[in-house]
Amino acid sequence: MFMRGPHDPLRIERAEGPWLYASNGLKILDAGGGAVVVNIGQGRCEIAEVAARTIANLDYIVPVWTSPERERLVERLSRWTPAGLTRFFFTSGGSEANYTAMLCALTRAHPEFAADGARAFAGPPVFYTSKECHRSWVKIAHQAGIGRSAARLVATDGTGRMSAAALAAAIEADLKSGCTPEAIRQYVISGAATVEDVLARRTRALFLNARAAFEMAPRVAELMARELRQGGEWESAQVRAVRLECAAFVPKG
Ligand SMILES: Cc1ncc(COP(=O)(O)O)c(C=O)c1O
Repeated sequence: MFMRGPHDPLRIERAEGPWLYASNGLKILDAGGGAVVVNIGQGRCEIAEVAARTIANLDYIVPVWTSPERERLVERLSRWTPAGLTRFFFTSGGSEANYTAMLCALTRAHPEFAADGARAFAGPPVFYTSKECHRSWVKIAHQAGIGRSAARLVATDGTGRMSAAALAAAIEADLKSGCTPEAIRQYVISGAATVEDVLARRTRALFLNARAAFEMAPRVAELMARELRQGGEWESAQVRAVRLECAAFVPKG
């Protein structure tokens, strides 16, 4: 482990539900569900059983092959995502997904990027992301060979969205100084700008229990409206929109 910092890393010995138990006696409430990946709590026997059953049947196949589990997952994802999305590229986590997106965007912007790297561009490539974005983006710029200074962390409008005016000003300044802007993301995904962001992407409640998500929607909208300084109209529109989605996820019969 290559840890850098003034403190020794916390040593977590075990977990139970939302609680983490450290070797120094601390009991920690893991309110974030890890990196939002153990939202239904840790140590769930039913998850361990499914994992054991699946692995006992098939551990690994190369990415280009398929299996009943992969097909089931793709089928489920295409039901949950907007119509027409039927092809999925699996990664090990958020940073790898972002990195893949960055490479795709750079290669699409300049096909020679694949062979020549950043030298393919006439000027230094830069990209724009919100200043509230996940910091993996800055490390990814390093990994992708365009350098950390290529990341333009653009101000938001106070509701989590990138400010269009600040983005336009940043692009204009870069064009003047000879950069070749490759706008990669214009929207903050790591934050939560809508009730759907909270129920589907941040807590995954919508996928885990659509009925509970339906019930939660007004309270989440109320808290978000207060936090994002939005009015009653925004709040009720958010509840209406997300409840329609929740209804589509409730099992029939
Ligand atoms: C938008 C976004 N990008 C990147 C990451 C980093 O993911 P990982 O730790 O799986 O690399 C996260 C994690 O929550 C994320 O939400």
